[in-house]
Amino acid sequence: MGFVHLFIFAFIVSTCSAEISNKVGINWGQLGNNLPSPPRSVELVKSLGAKRIKIYDANPDILKVLKDTDIIVSIMVPNELIANISKSQYLSDQWVKTNVVPFYTEVKIRYVLVGNEILTNPDTGTWYNLVPAMRRIKSSLKTHKIHKVKVGTPSAMNVLESSFPPSNGTFRSDISAPIIKPMLQFLNRTKSFFFVDVYPYFAWADNAKDINLDYALFESKNVTYTDPVTSLTYTNLFDQMMDAIVFAMKRLGYPDIRLFIAETGWPNNGDFDQIGANIYNAATYNRNVVKRLTTKPAFGTPARPGSVIPSFIFALYNENQKPGPGTERHFGLLYPNGSKVYEIDLSGNTPEYTKPLPAPTNNEPYKGKIWCVAAEGANKTALGDAISYACSQGNKTCEQIQPGNKCFKPNSLVWHASYAFSSYWAQFKKMGGSCYFNGLATQTVSDPSFGHCKFPSVTL
Ligand SMILES: *[C@@H]1O[C@H](CO)[C@@H](O)[C@H](O)[C@H]1NC(C)=O
Ligand SMILES: *[C@@H]1O[C@H](CO)[C@@H](O)[C@H](O)[C@H]1NC(C)=O
Ligand SMILES: *[C@@H]1O[C@H](CO)[C@@H](O)[C@H](O)[C@H]1NC(C)=O
Ligand SMILES: *[C@@H]1O[C@H](CO)[C@@H](O)[C@H](O)[C@H]1NC(C)=O
Ligand SMILES: *[C@@H]1O[C@H](CO)[C@@H](O)[C@H](O)[C@H]1NC(C)=O
Ligand SMILES: *[C@@H]1O[C@H](CO)[C@@H](O)[C@H](O)[C@H]1NC(C)=O
Ligand SMILES: *[C@@H]1O[C@H](CO)[C@@H](O)[C@H](O)[C@H]1NC(C)=O
Repeated sequence: MGFVHLFIFAFIVSTCSAEISNKVGINWGQLGNNLPSPPRSVELVKSLGAKRIKIYDANPDILKVLKDTDIIVSIMVPNELIANISKSQYLSDQWVKTNVVPFYTEVKIRYVLVGNEILTNPDTGTWYNLVPAMRRIKSSLKTHKIHKVKVGTPSAMNVLESSFPPSNGTFRSDISAPIIKPMLQFLNRTKSFFFVDVYPYFAWADNAKDINLDYALFESKNVTYTDPVTSLTYTNLFDQMMDAIVFAMKRLGYPDIRLFIAETGWPNNGDFDQIGANIYNAATYNRNVVKRLTTKPAFGTPARPGSVIPSFIFALYNENQKPGPGTERHFGLLYPNGSKVYEIDLSGNTPEYTKPLPAPTNNEPYKGKIWCVAAEGANKTALGDAISYACSQGNKTCEQIQPGNKCFKPNSLVWHASYAFSSYWAQFKKMGGSCYFNGLATQTVSDPSFGHCKFPSVTL
């Protein structure tokens, strides 16, 4: 008996430590109306060499197909439930009972993330519910004798008010004392992780004049940055961003909480007014970050040499229903039809990639005119509503498409929508307006103007 117990104990210990390993996973977002079924998706995940999956809910149809696979799974408590769960242990217990307990013996659920980027969400009320909800979920797991599941919450980089130099990493003053400090205490006590969404892409794109692209892509041979306070030398932007978090945690008295990359990635396409979103850069970044994260022994970061950083790449698919600028819909490793956007292997076996990548065409900012037109195949009813909305905004936005005016003809819904979108965007881009209209609109650089009808444009 003693021997058997010892054996089982050793077995459990080894599985546990294997799970806190440098395996790279994939974020399986599902904001698309054309995505493969869950069973097909799991096959595709395996074909990418991903060893972990993170989902943004606890969809039972997905958890069912993960039964009896070796894939390590991270599920999420939806943002909307956090306020109520934070106030009620009963609701928390119910959530765990419904979403974890029925699957736990057959699905390797190892992480429950409470909400997504809550501290970036404009609903500031929920910020204060976050840590109480995390504590309740952890306690519910304990009640059900589930001890192997870590509880955390993914943060965007903008939980920091300063990230440069990395040693100056500091949490935002509005959340530091009331929310981050108790969160770090919880994460430290439960030996969980600080989950972070880290995108060198956005940091570079916002500052492309000052940051070297190769430095953001892990490709720089000659650009380095030495932190004047620590004298640590950085060879890429990713390490800089990670260490900014490390120093921010240290500043609050928690120098040892481990990092977990909840999301990282690079867009393979985007809008004309976005820079550097292309297949070449996406393949380069994702291949390099996988190589970095799977190196044995672990590389860590300059501030934490040798530390293991588990990770999830964003994302499995290009998701056509994600709102926001075009990059948002183009982070996928796969097209919705399941074929790879570029060769990539997340297993860390770093194969020789054989197919040449298309040369990047948008690494410099686009200069010229852009129009905003109706997207191909846009829903006609929705298009009508969008025209009404666009025309009700701004100054004389739709005057030219009134009967008898220069852009009335051809009198078609698509033509009028294209004019209305261009006219709207030309007035509102400078105030943060986007060319999106729920996916009905798309940017173009070929002038739709026709005859005497001139379309308003945005000039970059
Ligand atoms: C939260 O609780 C309130 C009061 O019981 C209820 O009205 C509301 O629907 C709940 N919210 C959600 C998202 O379940
Ligand atoms: C360090 O961060 C603070 C804000 O937390 C900022 O005011 C200061 O400028 C930063 N220092 C440097 C050298 O950038
Ligand atoms: C964090 O956890 C470690 C290990 O359990 C403990 O030694 C340390 O005191 C904790 N730090 C704080 C600030 O509570
Ligand atoms: C690094 O090398 C590249 C290519 O040789 C060159 O274009 C760039 O100016 C160099 N940058 C620095 C900071 O030396
Ligand atoms: C999958 O979709 C992409 C992008 O639309 C396309 O380029 C590719 O040819 C498609 N692959 C297959 C096998 O249909
Ligand atoms: C088209 O849009 C309308 C109104 O937005 C919506 O009710 C309808 O379901 C949509 N049709 C399709 C096929 O998506
Ligand atoms: C519309 O015109 C008014 C008055 O000239 C101006 O203040 C406002 O900014 C204009 N609106 C837009 C969207 O350009």
